[in-house]
Amino acid sequence: MLFQEMSYMAYKDAKDVAGFLYCSSSLEERTFALYRTLSDKVQNPLVKSLLLYIAYDSLKHSLIMRGIAESVSQSKPKPGDCEKKLKQVWEKVVAFHEEISKLQKLSDANLPSLAQDLAGLENSLSEEYFVLVQLKTLEYMTKEVEQLYKVDLASLKNIFELIIKDEENHRKILTSIEELFTREESVKDTTPTVRYQHPEAW
Ligand SMILES: [Fe+2]
Repeated sequence: MLFQEMSYMAYKDAKDVAGFLYCSSSLEERTFALYRTLSDKVQNPLVKSLLLYIAYDSLKHSLIMRGIAESVSQSKPKPGDCEKKLKQVWEKVVAFHEEISKLQKLSDANLPSLAQDLAGLENSLSEEYFVLVQLKTLEYMTKEVEQLYKVDLASLKNIFELIIKDEENHRKILTSIEELFTREESVKDTTPTVRYQHPEAW
């Protein structure tokens, strides 16, 4: 909550909000690249496709955020600004991608901890975007955008709520991957013990 309030305090005008949207768009583009790399390296076909699903959602977010940013202000952030603006979550995505790129493949045994880390990342993204549905932020955007098109505050709010909802769904998908493979592991672990204790059940 404190973090969200701090983000909220940081926006002084429409240009400032547009800067955040440009940076969020770049971040989602990197997130797309991260999930696509992950999907390439994962062996399990179901998990592979779920990761690709999240990848394309992230690309979709990147495109819509860029579109809104360009409608609000043409002045783009300078190189290096986004790393500063979105420091923690930006670093997380970059470090994650570097780590994954070094690996040749990801087996089922890697999936629970991988999914858990990614769910944490999705949580950080939602926290960042929460500022976009706050009234003051929307007012800054609407003032600029409605001069160009007939876009009102409610329709902008709907778009950002959809993005936040998508992040929530990503978290749910990742949590179910984590649970599925944790359960599979524990079933494998207990089977020999059960067989040993109950030889009549062989
Ligand atoms: Fe996401």
